[in-house]
Amino acid sequence: MELPDVRNVKDLKGKKVLLRTDLNVLISDGKVGDDFRLTKALETITFLQKAGAKIILISHIGKEEDAQSLKPVYEWFKKHITLLFVGAVTGAFVEKAVKNLKDGDIIMLENVRTEQGECINDISFSKKLASVADIYVNDAFSASHRKHASIVGLPQFLPSYIGVLFQKELSELSRTFKPESPSLLILGGAKIKTKLPLIKKFLNIYDNVFVGGVLANAFFKARGWNTGLSETGEADMGAAELLSNEKLVLPVDVVVKEGDNSAIKSPNSINDMEKIVDAGPKTIEQIKDIVESARFITWNGPLGEYEYGFSEQTRELAKVIAHSNAQTIVGGGDTIAAIAKLNLGDKFSFVSTAGGAMLVFLLEGTLVGIDALKK
Ligand code: 3PG
Repeated sequence: MELPDVRNVKDLKGKKVLLRTDLNVLISDGKVGDDFRLTKALETITFLQKAGAKIILISHIGKEEDAQSLKPVYEWFKKHITLLFVGAVTGAFVEKAVKNLKDGDIIMLENVRTEQGECINDISFSKKLASVADIYVNDAFSASHRKHASIVGLPQFLPSYIGVLFQKELSELSRTFKPESPSLLILGGAKIKTKLPLIKKFLNIYDNVFVGGVLANAFFKARGWNTGLSETGEADMGAAELLSNEKLVLPVDVVVKEGDNSAIKSPNSINDMEKIVDAGPKTIEQIKDIVESARFITWNGPLGEYEYGFSEQTRELAKVIAHSNAQTIVGGGDTIAAIAKLNLGDKFSFVSTAGGAMLVFLLEGTLVGIDALKK
């Protein structure tokens, strides 16, 4: 898929570039936790700076309802590049800051979600935001599944391009549609509603589809097994019809919690008071065999309730995949966090910055942000 790439624009010198990045990272104690996305955003910024553009960085952080400030992210960037923080998204203050920009200067505006028009894709907000710039660059692939003003609205008002990271995400994730055989898709986490159609689609493309996390619980339930207090997502989302597919691989053992006690059990022997929180060690052995013979692996989502600390088998899986000879493409916040903690990032062919956007792209083959750039 070919989209206009900012690297092909000849006359960037002196141009005011509205650069939409995805700087949505977790902030703890006022500081950036994992800076993976921020590091990845630097390439396009540096490219534009070298080309002499005047850069206006925009991004969201957090959800609309808890509109946080991008200030901690700015503090992180300050250690890597010279830039100024403007504590607003539109208005006189921003206009003045843009006017003062010299070639190669960078300013970062405040979280776009602090403006009401962003999430409802308000046309007058897009117009106002666009009015300070000459061109728009979308480098936020990981936010391009959102029909928001800074993603789909701005291309209506400015000549629009993709950035370096966007292009890389697009070409690498597109490879997952034509995997070399034997191929393996691993899907974990929750988001059953999004992932079941994905499993259905990829059972037709991949040689094996391994399902873990809360997603697997939905399949156990569909088998008629007691899942106790485990999360299973919404009932009857279509898991039952996939159970007979021989390519579908489910955990053979799970870690369960009952109060403060935990145990490893077969998924068909859970009692009413137990909750499945992770896959078990035998499951990792089972996947190991498939991973070792695979030539192409796509992975998104943890095997356990990662956010509650049940990360052991996800980490084991990361190690197994990191040592395989297959082409390996991974994405999803918790998956990436596990890889980062183990320092295994460079052992994968491609680590995507996208979580939800990766899933939508895998399912639809496009994103609203991509479609907006084609118009
Ligand atoms: C993400 O973290 O997946 C992107 O930044 C999009 O964030 P959102 O889910 O808050 O829209």
